[in-house]
Amino acid sequence: MLDINASPEHPLVAASILSADFGRIAEECRDVLDQGADLLHVDIMDGHFVPNLTMGQNMIRDLRRHFPDAFLDVHLMVEQPDDYVDSFADAGASLFSFHLEAEVNHAALLERVRDRGLKAGLVINPPTPPDGLEPFLDGLDLVLVMSVNPGRSGQAFITDVLDKARWIAERIGPRTRLEMDGGLNGDTSPQAVAAGVDVLVTASALFGADDRKAVIDALHRG
Ligand code: DX5
Ligand code: ZN
Repeated sequence: MLDINASPEHPLVAASILSADFGRIAEECRDVLDQGADLLHVDIMDGHFVPNLTMGQNMIRDLRRHFPDAFLDVHLMVEQPDDYVDSFADAGASLFSFHLEAEVNHAALLERVRDRGLKAGLVINPPTPPDGLEPFLDGLDLVLVMSVNPGRSGQAFITDVLDKARWIAERIGPRTRLEMDGGLNGDTSPQAVAAGVDVLVTASALFGADDRKAVIDALHRG
């Protein structure tokens, strides 16, 4: 399985399955992994933190069963992420990331995530200033900068977040990955990589492409 704490030689591609055909989910995941995707990014929404509903622990359980070696990057857009650490750990998640905007005790929750053997990530929305991340940056496996307002795939990239990515990149160590999520494609990803991003999430640009390998190769080139 991918070692998320090792500095990658090229940007990693996290395939966000939100834009996959849910009726053929295992085939879709197999396809993007075979074409070179490095992680599967799974968006969990509760209808409260964001209006939409997506998937839950059973999706992770079944993906783990079908893909024992895949890195399952679980992005929680939920009001109470603390309710779900144990169930996602039991289901076989690799990394559990939750939002700085969630009203929880972030330090305590990060500790619980690590205690359950999960890699830990914090996510920040486009309007949120990055200062609130500072106390946590040292111990994080991943910081996820949203480049769209969370809730759905297929939105336009918000260029303003690049300054925030640069701010974070200057403050994290080599064991912490900087991920970006939303509106990334062959045109926008070079800006993200130039700002220090080393994990590129892609949903619509990847699953909607006729040539998925060409998309992954382009993102790998940075
Ligand atoms: C948005 C999700 C993203 C989304 C990205 O709330 O967190 O992972 O699927 O979709 P695209 O790549 O289409 O912007
Ligand atoms: Zn996401």
